[in-house]
Amino acid sequence: MYKIVSIPGDGIGPEVVAGAVAVLKQLSKKHGFEIVIEEHPFGGASYDLHGEMLTDATLEACKNCDAVLLGAVGGPKWESLPHDHKPEAALLKIRKELGLFANLRPAKVYDALLGASSLKPEVVRGTDFLVFRELTGGIYFGQPRGFDENKGWNTMVYERFEVERIARLAFEEARKRDKKVISIDKANVLEVSQFWRNVVHEVHKDFADVELSDMYVDNAAMQIVRNPKQFDVIVTSNLFGDILSDIAGMITGSLGMLPSASIGKSHALYEPIHGSAPDIAGQNKANPIATIASVAMMFDYSFSLPDIAREIYQAIEATLASGLRTADIANPGEIAVSTTVMTEAIVRHLGA
Ligand code: NAD
Ligand code: IPM
Ligand code: MN
Repeated sequence: MYKIVSIPGDGIGPEVVAGAVAVLKQLSKKHGFEIVIEEHPFGGASYDLHGEMLTDATLEACKNCDAVLLGAVGGPKWESLPHDHKPEAALLKIRKELGLFANLRPAKVYDALLGASSLKPEVVRGTDFLVFRELTGGIYFGQPRGFDENKGWNTMVYERFEVERIARLAFEEARKRDKKVISIDKANVLEVSQFWRNVVHEVHKDFADVELSDMYVDNAAMQIVRNPKQFDVIVTSNLFGDILSDIAGMITGSLGMLPSASIGKSHALYEPIHGSAPDIAGQNKANPIATIASVAMMFDYSFSLPDIAREIYQAIEATLASGLRTADIANPGEIAVSTTVMTEAIVRHLGA
């Protein structure tokens, strides 16, 4: 039995999570394992209900399950709240409380979608890299932070143990792939980045079979667009990973395609890398694939069932190969299908 807590959140969150839940239900029916899905409010949706972005009940539920499935949070409705009361702050809190220090964001191009990227097909074909984004440290959490009328300030700080554990995970994963890690930093300017680089190289001594190189983040942003195939595993800090993974999203055709796994010592949370997309929320237009692929990552990382993960990826691939496109991945002139039609097709391709 797998106990999954679903926190749909705001904007398109509920629409894409509904797609992922449909996939979970189909898998449960097909394979005969029991999946219990418990839904809890989170973010703006929770604030509107309970006056709190993250209630103790939701947090406790997340701590007492096998995996959390998250849609997205945030939106214009809650934008003017004080910083530490915004939905985004609740997301940071959940990551911190669950100890989710590693955020894995795979950028893999589906052949059927080569035409959907804004880059030339020959540049993106075969792209397959994995970003290890540090998720509970760096400038997102450093103190002091604040702003007043005359200045604003944040602090980027990394402790040795924080760099060591994410670097170790990245090297371990690289061993299962092409054995190439690129650590991305800004060591030419930031002391915290020089420290990051030093520690990554120390950890590398235990992984001599893996090739390690360093890249400055500004160059990395350019290199991802110039030749994404040069990357295998990227390891980087919280803010740089956030930015680079949105760039990676566009390589694959749309932000709506990229899943993620946020993992720690004893908890795990799965979420698309995109946000609540207020511009298309409530219109049944959102691409559910990032969230459905996040379920595949759940089967891989939390349940150690890679065969089921593969089934999900294959169902996505078959659905794309059949020509179905949501608006974000449709070419001009192509007819786009809704979130629910895309979901139903993926569920159908999973088979009974
Ligand atoms: P966004 O990712 O929500 O949207 C950026 C663009 O991509 C929009 O045009 C949107 O329509 C499109 N898009 C995103 N996901 C899509 C999908 N599944 N299908 C089709 N199109 C999709 O980023 P934003 O507009 O900068 O942020 C909106 C809100 O979401 C903000 O409040 C932000 O803080 C929040 N946010 C939350 C998360 C999260 O919960 N993990 C992540 C990013 C942004
Ligand atoms: C993401 C988002 C979040 C982040 C925000 C909403 C806090 O952009 O998950 O990528 O910056 O981590
Ligand atoms: Mn982001």
